Amino acid sequence: MVTCYDYAFALAIGQAQVDIVLVGDSLANVVLGLTDTREVTIDEMINHTQAVARGTKNSLVITDAPYLAYQKNPKKSLYYAQKFIAAGAQGVKIEWFKDCLLVVKTLIKNKIPVMGHIGLTPQTADLLGGYKVQGKDHTSVLNLVEQAKVLEDAGAFSLVVECVPESVGKLITASVKIPTIGIGAGKYCDGQVLVLYDLLGLYRNTRPRFVRQYCDLFAMIQKNVKKYSADVKRSRYPSRKESYL
Ligand code: KIV
Repeated sequence: MVTCYDYAFALAIGQAQVDIVLVGDSLANVVLGLTDTREVTIDEMINHTQAVARGTKNSLVITDAPYLAYQKNPKKSLYYAQKFIAAGAQGVKIEWFKDCLLVVKTLIKNKIPVMGHIGLTPQTADLLGGYKVQGKDHTSVLNLVEQAKVLEDAGAFSLVVECVPESVGKLITASVKIPTIGIGAGKYCDGQVLVLYDLLGLYRNTRPRFVRQYCDLFAMIQKNVKKYSADVKRSRYPSRKESYL
């Protein structure tokens, strides 16, 4: 699974054999330049889901349930989930929070597929001691396994497990039958997810240990836009071939 936020990237990753494209609320950070994922609006998530869905043919499109739609307003969760489905998502991802089971059950009862998300849940990071590895003591490991099981029992079809030691990712994966998708959760999860801009080297503000950067798109963009700018300034662009004569 990779995140994706727009049509052009959705087309480009369309042939890349990813099973799931996630319209993550990391949109807030990497696209909108906000510091907190809780700030992304419901309309922004809808617009970006529409764009991604237009460009995605062969992967499942999942939209991240934004804080404002769910944690702030659990009673309206179905209403908003239906909007994300109408925008082209095939399911929604719900981060673990106090009332999340109520939300998960309501959506599933109404035939909306739900992906759970446990471990480091950025929308409630302040309750977890910040952006830190979770599951580092016995009680918190037991809690995570319990969360995984209750989400499975509630009908979630898969589970993102974020920022836990490899052994904990392994234990959670062995504790449930639904697929686990790890991000900073080690190699024993059934699948992996990364933020697309991290793996392409486009977003440089943070670089967690678990990110593998496959290329340096930021540098490529800088280099090529600089070339274009120099070409324009030195009248090397446009050429005759690039002009209507
Ligand atoms: O919003 C996001 O990008 C995410 C993941 C990377 C799991 O939730």
